[in-house]
Amino acid sequence: MTHKEDAAFEERERYVQDLFRRVAPRYDFLNRLLSFRRDVAWRRFTARRAGLKPGDSVLDEATGTGDLAFDLAAVVGREGRVVGLDFTEEMLVRARAKADKLGLSGVCRFVQGNALDLPFEDEEFDAATIAFGLRNVVDRERCLSEMRRVVRPGGHVLVLEFSQPVRPVFRQIYLLYFRHVLPLIGRIVQGDADTYRYLPETVLAFPDQESLAANMRKLGFRHVRYHNLTGGICCLHVGEV
Ligand SMILES: C[S@@+](CC[C@H](N)C(=O)[O-])C[C@H]1O[C@@H](n2cnc3c(N)ncnc32)[C@H](O)[C@@H]1O
Repeated sequence: MTHKEDAAFEERERYVQDLFRRVAPRYDFLNRLLSFRRDVAWRRFTARRAGLKPGDSVLDEATGTGDLAFDLAAVVGREGRVVGLDFTEEMLVRARAKADKLGLSGVCRFVQGNALDLPFEDEEFDAATIAFGLRNVVDRERCLSEMRRVVRPGGHVLVLEFSQPVRPVFRQIYLLYFRHVLPLIGRIVQGDADTYRYLPETVLAFPDQESLAANMRKLGFRHVRYHNLTGGICCLHVGEV
């Protein structure tokens, strides 16, 4: 990587971190509002597809305020271990407070770190997940390779991310909502135009279902498959290490 690329990546990371620092206090509220609460079902679906059993250990990266980590905790149970990693402390503060409230502090641990350079041993986890995070990292391949590194052979890596609806008419309606209505609501609630312009921009630039699956296969994941959720608004990719 050139020095110039390095500097551009660092600047982009600072931008993303700053954005989530600002959005943290209203993040959960806006998620539920803008997705009509579908985000709750999407994360639960993900936790159930992780191939986990009670007592297993799982990493949830770009964990944010911890919602997927809590769904994973319900699967691995009191004997299990969930580590939530994120590079924005303001999001983690909320995740830890929610864990306390839910009585899950003994199962879920939240650590600050970068998804592109995970502070974990090779094959340390039975699975790794990332929800609405892969779109935000500056190097997708590196992020996926790091997830692959820390999961034991046979374990699963799961990517939950916004995608694009597959049916043409639904797709048009969705794009209208996504490009125009969503940034407007975001601006009213959040009070700044930038944040909810970032969301449609990054979603529209993200690879479609087939391209991401091909990318995962190229990186060495086995049995890669995906599930379109709510008509393809969201998509869960699953690969085996
Ligand atoms: C849209 S939020 C998703 C939060 C959560 N997974 C969810 O389902 O609501 C994206 C999160 O990714 C985090 N993030 C982005 N790039 C990261 C990186 N390189 N390393 C760690 N966290 C990162 C941000 O701080 C933010 O909390």
